[in-house]
Amino acid sequence: MDRVKTGIVGLDEMLEGGFPRSHTVVVMGSFGTGKTTFGLQFLSEGLKQGEKGIYITLEEDERSIIDDAKSFGWDLKPAIDSKKLSIVKLEPTDAKTTISRIKSDLPDFIKSFGATRIVIDSISLLNMLFESDHEKRSNLFHLVQMIKKTGATCLMTAEVKDNNPLVSRDGLIEYTADGVISLRYDEPAEKSEIQLTIRIVKMRRINHSRRVKPYSITSNGIEVHSGAEVF
Ligand SMILES: Nc1ncnc2c1ncn2[C@@H]1O[C@H](COP(=O)(O)OP(=O)(O)OP(=O)(O)O)[C@@H](O)[C@H]1O
Ligand SMILES: [Mg+2]
Repeated sequence: MDRVKTGIVGLDEMLEGGFPRSHTVVVMGSFGTGKTTFGLQFLSEGLKQGEKGIYITLEEDERSIIDDAKSFGWDLKPAIDSKKLSIVKLEPTDAKTTISRIKSDLPDFIKSFGATRIVIDSISLLNMLFESDHEKRSNLFHLVQMIKKTGATCLMTAEVKDNNPLVSRDGLIEYTADGVISLRYDEPAEKSEIQLTIRIVKMRRINHSRRVKPYSITSNGIEVHSGAEVF
């Protein structure tokens, strides 16, 4: 299968090259585990490869996303100016407008923009627009199908349940998505430092590592230490 590099070297090794093209992958984790960083790194890698990307944010505004990226040395401004990257801010509080933008404008926009990488940060906030579980489920399904039809590879971030960092807040997206990557922190008794660990929980149609690997967030972004063992 054709692979799309995430730009996170150790993770691409664990994935034997990257995400399968046109997959939808959810990256889930608690606050501060690096979900937004992951999304930005994925898009920056795309830009490096000459691919176009769309960053859909429900959390931070465009300025804040640009500043986040800059702190890792990724200058998004030239890509935005030359229409290789678009940052779309959706309002999680204005359900009616946002739902209609997603349903009627987004499919055409992805196609006309020519994006091959899409990030949705976060799917948990997007889900909050819908009231019932049934609505959440069916809208999520349609959104994922719509994006798949465009052929783009999509990364969605998700928040996790307070009592279980391996399950997303709504517990829905991991079934719909082709892939699930979990980011979490542990506090090993023998260390006085929080340890961040990554797991590929699911990745349809490929052979991937199932090992738990440590990672860090540095001024270069996320680094997965695929040669190191956690346990
Ligand atoms: N420039 C940087 N250099 C090193 N580490 C950084 C840098 N920027 C952020 N970090 C680390 O990354 C963490 C935040 O990562 P990020 O915003 O991607 O997490 P998140 O999972 O999206 O969080 P949230 O759920 O709050 O949106 C910070 O708490 C910090 O530890
Ligand atoms: Mg974030």
